[in-house]
Amino acid sequence: MYQTQTIKINDENLMVHCATDKSLTHRAVMFASLAIGTSTIRNPLLGADCLSTIDCFRALGVSIHIGEKRLEVSSSGPNSFKTPEERLDCGNSGTTARLLAGLFAGIPGLEVTLVGDASLSQRPMGRVVNPLAEAGGNYTYAEKEGYLPLTIKGEELKAQNFTVNKASAQIKSAILLAFVGSTAKIKITLPMGSRDHTEKLLRRFGANCHTQVSEDLEIVTFQGPCPAVAGDYSIPVDPSSVAFFAVLALLRPSGRTTIPSMLDNPTRTGFLKVLNRMNAGIVATPSADKDAMIEPTLDLSIEGGTRLAGTVITEDEIPSLIDEIPILAIAAAFAEGPSRFCGLGELRVKESDRLAKTKELLDLAGISSQVEGDDLIIEGGTQSVHSFRYDPAHDHRLAMCGIILGSFSKEPSEILHPECIEVSFPNFFKELEKFGL
Ligand code: S3P
Repeated sequence: MYQTQTIKINDENLMVHCATDKSLTHRAVMFASLAIGTSTIRNPLLGADCLSTIDCFRALGVSIHIGEKRLEVSSSGPNSFKTPEERLDCGNSGTTARLLAGLFAGIPGLEVTLVGDASLSQRPMGRVVNPLAEAGGNYTYAEKEGYLPLTIKGEELKAQNFTVNKASAQIKSAILLAFVGSTAKIKITLPMGSRDHTEKLLRRFGANCHTQVSEDLEIVTFQGPCPAVAGDYSIPVDPSSVAFFAVLALLRPSGRTTIPSMLDNPTRTGFLKVLNRMNAGIVATPSADKDAMIEPTLDLSIEGGTRLAGTVITEDEIPSLIDEIPILAIAAAFAEGPSRFCGLGELRVKESDRLAKTKELLDLAGISSQVEGDDLIIEGGTQSVHSFRYDPAHDHRLAMCGIILGSFSKEPSEILHPECIEVSFPNFFKELEKFGL
């Protein structure tokens, strides 16, 4: 249990180092494991989710050494992956389970069973299994149809045109990874806007992968095999982790906060656009990093004591800020005037039902909000926050939201199971101390 302290006037200029990117670390481990030779991943996120991905590849025979702020991955490529004796534990990580369910389906001869923790075992797997089964993917659910545990037998997959009805990077990436070793030509049509790291990595290796945009649809074509080559990856800071400290930095009474080296990718930085539309005035400048990052980065400068204004977040903006909605809801609570977040249905199947749990947190703190269908409406203009006791249901992002919101109540608040923050932001508490919390 974590007990919050009330934020005090602290006009110091702060430099906050947020966790590095979870999505990119997962993918770097995957591509390094597919390549023959030794790759180095600098500044990987060593949170629990990425450690699950690392352990899955180790179980297939890939050597992964965890050093000081780096991983050394030595692999003989997918043809040498051995069928593991044990089931592969994806822990709490949806990205591990879904991307590996795709990748392993296209490696003939491999047989694995994926399992997860209680939360992951309730998250839908059909969204990747169903389309890939149509292309010849061999999947068996061990217990409940549509959920982990899931057994995958690798096969030669057939060329296919996939139509996906969600703007989901996990579905898109699972399909692409299933075909990295194949010559079959595929086309994926899906709503616009989901993160594009897998496509970017495929292109980095010279793969025949193209994206076209037609009205509000994204069409990704790919024909493998993808020649993954061993090399160096340097992982930037995770926008999804930055969002927590960006909001805290705006809401603290005064002082400037600098957050360096955040991944600059429009499919991930929607929260910045929304906060600036709310009057945040966050200044983002390209970083002068010495390390060649896997994708470009920005340094942020944020002034405390900013008066935010309410906003409308439209459904088409959601993919670019899908993991930042709970913390943006807290920013909206303190903004002048109401805010509306449209089309949040996907939040119901994240690590918890994040729509219901965000509303619960706001209710406990005495902040007025309504859920209308899949929309969240927040009244805004919050002057005082009740102290509360909140169970984030082992959801890392909700636990961080609870802690930040609790720092604005006069009396201490209690957040249960704060250790779940380890999933994505192991140094969260260390950085929080800089704010005197
Ligand atoms: C992720 C994609 C998103 C995001 C998740 C990580 C990824 O999920 O919510 O935390 O790394 O591909 P969806 O693609 O299902 O929206």
